[in-house]
Amino acid sequence: MTTLEQQYDYLNAAVSRLGSEAAFEVLGRARALQEAGRDIVHLEVGEPDFDTPAHIKTAGKAAIDENFTHYAPNPGIMEFRRVIADYATRFRGLKTPYDASGVVVAPGAKQIIWNVLSAVLDPGDEMLYADPAYPTYAVCASYLGAKPVPVRLLESKQWRLDLDELAAKVTPRTKVLIINSPSNPTGGVLSREDLAAIAEIAAKHRFLILTDEIYCRHVYGQKFESITQFEELRDRIVLVDGFSKAYAMTGWRLGYCIAPPQVAKAATLMANNTYACTSTFIQKAGIAALTGPDEPVVEMRDIFHKRRDMVIAGLNDIPNVTACMPPGAFYAFPNISKVTPDDKRLASYLLEEAGVALLGGSCFGDAGAGCLRISYASSIDNLEEALRRMRVALPKFPG
Ligand SMILES: Cc1ncc(COP(=O)(O)O)c(C=O)c1O
Repeated sequence: MTTLEQQYDYLNAAVSRLGSEAAFEVLGRARALQEAGRDIVHLEVGEPDFDTPAHIKTAGKAAIDENFTHYAPNPGIMEFRRVIADYATRFRGLKTPYDASGVVVAPGAKQIIWNVLSAVLDPGDEMLYADPAYPTYAVCASYLGAKPVPVRLLESKQWRLDLDELAAKVTPRTKVLIINSPSNPTGGVLSREDLAAIAEIAAKHRFLILTDEIYCRHVYGQKFESITQFEELRDRIVLVDGFSKAYAMTGWRLGYCIAPPQVAKAATLMANNTYACTSTFIQKAGIAALTGPDEPVVEMRDIFHKRRDMVIAGLNDIPNVTACMPPGAFYAFPNISKVTPDDKRLASYLLEEAGVALLGGSCFGDAGAGCLRISYASSIDNLEEALRRMRVALPKFPG
């Protein structure tokens, strides 16, 4: 029998740099409490609580019946890649259409982020990214032996990027900058001016921009702006998007990138050597999502909008809690530093004592310390109940 230590001898050094997404860990703990009979309000996981729109499900089922159940080409079915190129061009109002040859489909945006970063980062390269951020970016860079370099998002600027810090942190080793607007975990949205400044810095220093726009359909009361609209930079921008959030398709696993030719080719090679292709019938459902009625997406967005307004007002009503109004995604990121600087302990306390599952802001990076991340992808009733429980529990936090 091998001891635990002997087993660890088999693991490589890179795997020790793999973090694990806090949302899934907290979900596991919350489910265990539920099984033990506790009543838990789930605000920890970032997935829409809606069902996948009917026309998409119908298309997926029909595709199975029509035997779209075989391997697909590594970068995706050509019809789907054309539809994606066309949709991405139209949605962002671009003058020069995207070409289908740049589209690489994958089982999830997360997978395509790994494909692209694996294709471009060498050990020792630096990757700039906004802090706090979706954890996968820094984990992937670290795994590859590259250096993740955080650039702060500023609460004082509604969680927009500190552009001075960005400029100061560029070095000759900077290979990639990742931006994510609207942002997980803050809900912050970069302005047109922010994007122009970022585009200028990228052009000057010739690094690649990976723009993760998976929340582009969740922007409230303002127009979505994309760095891809700076079309002169197209040969150094990788656009990442997916179906999980906009179409409530988290479990289908479907995402893509649109990349310059060399990067698209390398991302395809990663697919070829790992998962081979994305499920064929799921790509067919993706075609239905992008070419079918858009109303379901707009309806879901409008519901999120109402919930956002209610949650932010409710949070600001709790003593010692302040929350700025996030223009996008479906997350609130309230500041609780007047209650305690230890956000993770507070999150555990709220789960154990109040039955509210949410995440400490520092799970997303140092700049998230003193905040909580609340996913408002939950019903108004659940959100009201969570706010009520927080209002009662927070003053009793044993600080
Ligand atoms: C910012 C961001 N990017 C990418 C993803 C990955 O999405 P998926 O792999 O489900 O397409 C997520 C999921 O939470 C996310 O928040």
